[in-house]
Amino acid sequence: MATILSDVGYTDGDVDTNFTNLRTLNEIADERFSRRQTMLGGLTASVSAFLGTSLLTACGSDDVSFPSETLVNAGQDAATSAGRMVTIAPTVTNNAAFTVEQFSGPAVALTGTGATRSFFAPGVSAPTTLGFRIAAGGQVDDVTITVNPAELGFTAVPRNVDDKVTVPAGHNVTVLTRLGDPILPGVPAFANNGTDTNYAGRIGDHGDALYYYGLSAAGMRDDNSSIRGLLVQNHENLNIQYLHPNGPTNLAAGQVRTAAEAIKEIEAHGVSVTEIQDSGNRNWVVVANSALNRRITPNTPMRINGPVRGTAFVQTAGSPDGTTSTGTINNCANGHALWGTNLTCEENWAGYFRRDNSGSGQDTANRTARELTALRRYGVNSNRGNYNWASVSTTDPIYRRWDARAGTGAATSDYRNEPNTFGWVVEIDPYNPNTTPRKRTALGRMGHEGAWLSNLVEGQRIAVYMGDDARREYMYKFVSDAAWTNADLNRSDRLAVGDKYLDSGTLYVARFNADGTGTWLPLVFGQVPTRPAVTTSAGTEPAYTFQDQADILVNTRLAADAVGATPMDRPEWTGVNPANGEVYLTLTNNNAGGRPITDTNAANPRSYIEPTSPTTTSAGNPNGHIIRLREAGNLPTATTFTWDIYLFGADSVDASADVNLSGLNAENDFSSPDGLWFARPQNPTGVGRPLLWIQTDDGAFTDRTNNQMLAALPGRVGDGGARTITNTNGGTATQATFVGATATGATLRRFMTGPLECELTGVDTTPDGRTIFVGVQHPGEDATDPNNPSSNWPANQDAPAPGVRPRSAVVAITRADGGIIGV
Ligand code: FEO
Ligand code: CA
Ligand code: CA
Repeated sequence: MATILSDVGYTDGDVDTNFTNLRTLNEIADERFSRRQTMLGGLTASVSAFLGTSLLTACGSDDVSFPSETLVNAGQDAATSAGRMVTIAPTVTNNAAFTVEQFSGPAVALTGTGATRSFFAPGVSAPTTLGFRIAAGGQVDDVTITVNPAELGFTAVPRNVDDKVTVPAGHNVTVLTRLGDPILPGVPAFANNGTDTNYAGRIGDHGDALYYYGLSAAGMRDDNSSIRGLLVQNHENLNIQYLHPNGPTNLAAGQVRTAAEAIKEIEAHGVSVTEIQDSGNRNWVVVANSALNRRITPNTPMRINGPVRGTAFVQTAGSPDGTTSTGTINNCANGHALWGTNLTCEENWAGYFRRDNSGSGQDTANRTARELTALRRYGVNSNRGNYNWASVSTTDPIYRRWDARAGTGAATSDYRNEPNTFGWVVEIDPYNPNTTPRKRTALGRMGHEGAWLSNLVEGQRIAVYMGDDARREYMYKFVSDAAWTNADLNRSDRLAVGDKYLDSGTLYVARFNADGTGTWLPLVFGQVPTRPAVTTSAGTEPAYTFQDQADILVNTRLAADAVGATPMDRPEWTGVNPANGEVYLTLTNNNAGGRPITDTNAANPRSYIEPTSPTTTSAGNPNGHIIRLREAGNLPTATTFTWDIYLFGADSVDASADVNLSGLNAENDFSSPDGLWFARPQNPTGVGRPLLWIQTDDGAFTDRTNNQMLAALPGRVGDGGARTITNTNGGTATQATFVGATATGATLRRFMTGPLECELTGVDTTPDGRTIFVGVQHPGEDATDPNNPSSNWPANQDAPAPGVRPRSAVVAITRADGGIIGV
């Protein structure tokens, strides 16, 4: 109980000295309480009109009044949890102005004037007390607020197959940027009937990872601005059927496509930079013609940086000296470098190129055995390329360069090396549209899903954690040579900062040992042995001996094979817990024979048969899992780590206890985790006990629900224990592994679901955590007739829109009460 200090002396309150007609504090408080009660729904709910904690004054208490002109009662001590709004509503007689001063606990920013002051409870890892002193008319009174670690603060969204975005009650959805929206001057409105052109001035297709980069009122970088910013989003691929009036023509090998169709498809890939503004109360709008808006496409000039720069591997007809390249493609996931740049990752680039797939054509004859091994290892083996773009022209490089067949001349006379210019992490400065993005070859070449940096610590080198998304591929990390200095955080030459930390360092690949430890194996020339010959069902792959570091970085998969990395169940996004540095990696799934019962390991332990509908099944690890690791000594430079499996995806209806190892239930069961992102430490959800967002890209659980995003409050590596499971998949076998703590509704909860046939991918919030941006990718992807679409989203988000073509889009989700999302 707060005490009341007055100029007539101290009392603990167990007296009544009221000898005037002044109303007692209790009367005042009771009056206020009854007035607020309808709004609040009760005193004990620590929930105010803003879903925060309201400190009601002296209700039913033994407080007293004094023969003083101004009486102050700060209210009763209270408890809340991180991120929730707290409202201090003292009782002060005579309507006297009062001040609130914080005297203990982590500093908070108080807002409001008049009768109340509010703040968001800070992020904490253990119960923490904050003290406030209310002063008015020479009187003071104190109150304390105990803040507990974050708790999830919404009702789980049920599994559903509705053709819309579904969010918890009390949340609002605004559709922000959509496929085709014009973002550059002079580009007409999007008709969405297949006639639109000029995608280099529009939002691209298949929006994937996204990040918010704050802007000040003057339009300059401001990492703490939550009212104006740049939304940077990858555009991974196409719902090609909707880009043309009646679908694409001449896609088959041997046919010739039109330039008019192909250029739309090419330009619908890449990255968009779009200014958005809060027009008031978190109503976000797109600034269509902002000077900062930019489209980066497969035709945008790029610079090749790092050890591969200038080497023969990347010399092409378009860049004879191998220092530049053209464009970026199949941009999938994260990340976001804290010095203000974007890292976009080139994932499934291999399929876009035309080669011989017969193995007997001119291209094969003109290639070295080493080149052929490398091309096979990366799957550059199409005889037309995904969309047959190379068929458009044998001379115009925009189309010609997608033909990677080797001719009889020099490598710089054709585009045989063009595939080597893709598969990189690319750094973009979103704040300066005149800068040339840089391909960071030191981070290796693979099906880059994502790249997430370790927490920046002054004097400590930086790690970048990365997944290579294909069946049985690996997890990597890069460690910079340069140690981080905070002086680099706000430099204006942001790509030069990237040069410092991302062009020189050591690339490692992960081996997960059966005993719960792991090893980072360096991919360093001189330490990587010859990749031995391998016999596959397709024949024998010859041995591959590395020539130099550039060879290792261009052919990273071969180097990782050679050192004995652990084949994983499709490594997708990485994330780093901002509070403790632990590293999370989604392993989305591995089915279709990719994880047979005879080939499990401790880190990829499940092999089972999952019913995916009443009539279909999927075998292997169709629901995926999330692994996490703690570096030795919590140092990103460590070469060893410990690990466990944080969560296993499962259909809680179908799964046995040996499959549903995390104990999922109806409010949190999920399948095929892909997107993964920890909350920003700029707001309470990223501090203390950080919130983790998990997104799915699934086809094994879609009989029960569309794809989804969950909010989680993870523990830490080792919070579960060792377990031996029994796999059943064409036989039975046991597999020992390490399982994290069982999930509960308190630690994992479904926050949203997307429309039909979409995946949810891409998530960030404003720095204040009060708006969350989520990417909705490829709704309606299964339809073949564009005029009979299988989803009408987003046109139908608020009302039916039959016949309207679906569009990938970003949604902004806010709370009606203005609170921080998730807690
Ligand atoms: Fe583009 Fe692996 O998701
Ligand atoms: Ca199932
Ligand atoms: Ca993905």
